[in-house]
Amino acid sequence: MTNEYVLILDFGGQYNQLIARRVRECNVYCEVKPYDKVTIDEIKALAPKGIIFTGGPQSVYGEDAPSVSKEIFELGIPVLGICYGSQLMAHVLGGKVETCTVSEYGKTETVYDKNCVLFGGVKELPEKAVSWMSHTDFISAVPEGFKIAAHTANCPCAAMYNEEKRLYAVQFHPEVNHTQFGVDMLGSFLKNVCECTGDWTMENYAERAIREIREKVGDGKVLLALSGGVDSSVLAALLSKAVGRQLTCIFVDHGFMRKNEGDEVEAAFSDWDINFVRVNAKDRFMEKLRGVSDPETKRKTIGEEFIRVFEAEAKKIGKVDFLAQGTIYPDVIESGAGDAAVIKSHHNVGGLPDYVDFKEIIEPLRMLFKDETRKLGQELGLSETLVWRQPFPGPGLAIRIIGEITDEKLEILQDADWIFREEIAKAGLDRSINQYFAVLTNNRSVGVMGDFRTYDYTLALRAVETTDFMTAEFSRIPYEVLEICSRRIVNEVKNINRVCYDITTKPPATIEWE
Ligand code: XMP
Repeated sequence: MTNEYVLILDFGGQYNQLIARRVRECNVYCEVKPYDKVTIDEIKALAPKGIIFTGGPQSVYGEDAPSVSKEIFELGIPVLGICYGSQLMAHVLGGKVETCTVSEYGKTETVYDKNCVLFGGVKELPEKAVSWMSHTDFISAVPEGFKIAAHTANCPCAAMYNEEKRLYAVQFHPEVNHTQFGVDMLGSFLKNVCECTGDWTMENYAERAIREIREKVGDGKVLLALSGGVDSSVLAALLSKAVGRQLTCIFVDHGFMRKNEGDEVEAAFSDWDINFVRVNAKDRFMEKLRGVSDPETKRKTIGEEFIRVFEAEAKKIGKVDFLAQGTIYPDVIESGAGDAAVIKSHHNVGGLPDYVDFKEIIEPLRMLFKDETRKLGQELGLSETLVWRQPFPGPGLAIRIIGEITDEKLEILQDADWIFREEIAKAGLDRSINQYFAVLTNNRSVGVMGDFRTYDYTLALRAVETTDFMTAEFSRIPYEVLEICSRRIVNEVKNINRVCYDITTKPPATIEWE
């Protein structure tokens, strides 16, 4: 069975992945393709139930402005244009686009015409509601056959449609949370205009993926580098269901995992019917990192050593047929390569496949978003701890210890990080904060404990909220929670006498400190 399919044509806007995620939330399978990488004939062959044009930074009159052929509107396939996509639809079909006298950014009161099914299909939507705007051009005259379906104080055409041709366009961003009932509007387009039933569920994805992996792999051997992160864990679970003992997972424990984490990963897979190899390689890594304090050298050293350890283990297995990679859809979209193979190698170090003797790479998660990967993990029976594990960088705590890494510092950081995580979970914040961890700075300061002067390390706590990890806000953790963390860490972890909370956003800071 193939799923209903919606094509998202990407014009370079900042919310493109978000549109795709929202469509999938409506249980409709979609793919994002760069607008200039798909021809009309290919679109015909794909036979999408609908096409969505994303926003983009350009003006339709700009030099090299991205465009589409008029033919796309004549295929009889419903189209929804968003922001730049709406202006493009107007422009190509003979309407007029002009620069606004007053640009609109942010939450904007919008008046909707409920005769248009985008809005009429959403019962709860009032005639006036807030939408999220971000534009400097606007549609000043709609093409022939179109009607205006929404307006704001400064934008006479915030939506337009041609019901007969099933062409719809919105100036605002329905995919952004700030647009009230925005996802429902997308849902109305998918259900009422494209006539999608919503047949995309993780249950049927899992069934199909297992079947396809079996067909492809046959009785071949599969090798997977398991890091214990969400993507590689879900992949291990999927492959184990599909090919069982034909799969070997190599888990290289470099010793920079969080407290107890190496054992947790091993325990999580102990009941699975796979070949699981854990390599305790901490000594090798520590040896290589002796005297190293430069962040980039640390990363490079760890990446190279990882490959060496992995290679040595892989050699013991001998020739494998397939190397499995946990590439997920955001990696594919970000590469801008459309369907071209994208190889994400562990620790962001290229070249892993070159070191292993294999026939082909398989990437069974490459069409899934992170939240879908998690859902699939749940569907396959992975534990909550693994499925909801927060992102963890390949080099692990090595890049959260500023300066040279020593056993002592590693232990201090593991203990402090453990307390921070425990308190965040107790406060019920562990699902809302996207990433939270402790950093051991290389700074020492004077303190007083009892009657004694101390001269110990400063620990930094970092917690961020983000959707894409490209930008991030620091999390507004209640002072009371921070206070408990600080008190417990200073009391329970030796050699820390000061705790700071990092309140920088990304940019200008990054999420990690190194
Ligand atoms: P930054 O620090 O660049 O981090 O703001 C963004 C996200 O990427 C994670 N990160 C890594 N993940 N290998 C990884 O697999 C790495 O070398 C690496 N460095 C940073 C970081 O934890 C955050 O989620």
